Amino acid sequence: MSINNRVALITGANKGIGLEIARQLGQNGLTVLVGARDAGRGEEATQTLQSEGVDARFVAIDVNDQSSIEAAAKTIESDFGRLDVLVNNAGVALESTGASEASLEVVRRTFDTNFFGVVAVTQALLPLIRKSESGRIVNVSSGLGSLTQLSDPSNQYYAVNPFGYNASKSALNAFTVSLAKELRDTNIKVNSADPGYTATDLNGNSGPQTIPEGAQSSVTLALLPDDGPTGGFFEAKGPVAW
Ligand SMILES: NC(=O)c1ccc[n+]([C@@H]2O[C@H](COP(=O)([O-])OP(=O)(O)OC[C@H]3O[C@@H](n4cnc5c(N)ncnc54)[C@H](OP(=O)(O)O)[C@@H]3O)[C@@H](O)[C@H]2O)c1
Repeated sequence: MSINNRVALITGANKGIGLEIARQLGQNGLTVLVGARDAGRGEEATQTLQSEGVDARFVAIDVNDQSSIEAAAKTIESDFGRLDVLVNNAGVALESTGASEASLEVVRRTFDTNFFGVVAVTQALLPLIRKSESGRIVNVSSGLGSLTQLSDPSNQYYAVNPFGYNASKSALNAFTVSLAKELRDTNIKVNSADPGYTATDLNGNSGPQTIPEGAQSSVTLALLPDDGPTGGFFEAKGPVAW
């Protein structure tokens, strides 16, 4: 590997949008670390990407398990000494219940992965991202995290009201804003991506977009040039209202 090769970690990269983000970053010449909580699924996805010519390596990481996160950070430190791109993609959608009846237990589990997991992974890896010449952090959010869209009765997703999922993505957006502000005088850019409604296992393969379309916003943000934005929320075609 050339010392100039950029190194990207994608969490939840064994399938769906995460696997496709890894594929497209690999096609752009990055070394991709295929983050997955299950070794079998992670190795299989890694081999698929390798067979397509991507420089892919499996990294075990369960975003709900602090010791797994720390072990992944140690491995990346000893193998590369830095991390250029972190795509916080791993996510779950566990319910369809509105706020009046949502199970607290399910809401907490949703936040564990979609919010606290991202915070924990990012905090553990930030020392390595600080060593990059141009760090990029992409938090894979959702249009369902946009309070502006969800409070607009004319929005097409107004009625989509799974409380825990939507709130976890709004909280994730708050993390993006807070971290980007802290890092504004560094080489690190932090943004939220809205993939758009994409057919994956997360939604019973019901979305109108293809998985390559769903990966586009995250890939663009992962490859931002040095004069690109930070602290924003973007879908493939441009900014999204918070
Ligand atoms: N699909 C959409 O329409 C859509 C729209 C907006 C936003 N998003 C967001 O896009 C991201 C990817 O979703 P997707 O649609 O590609 O869903 P998916 O096909 O269900 O993939 C989710 C991925 O996250 C992983 N994951 C879940 N919990 C994890 C944990 N604790 N540690 C590590 N990995 C974990 C899963 O691993 P396992 O295989 O081990 O379960 C899987 O690889 C999510 O953040 C989702 O909220 C999706």
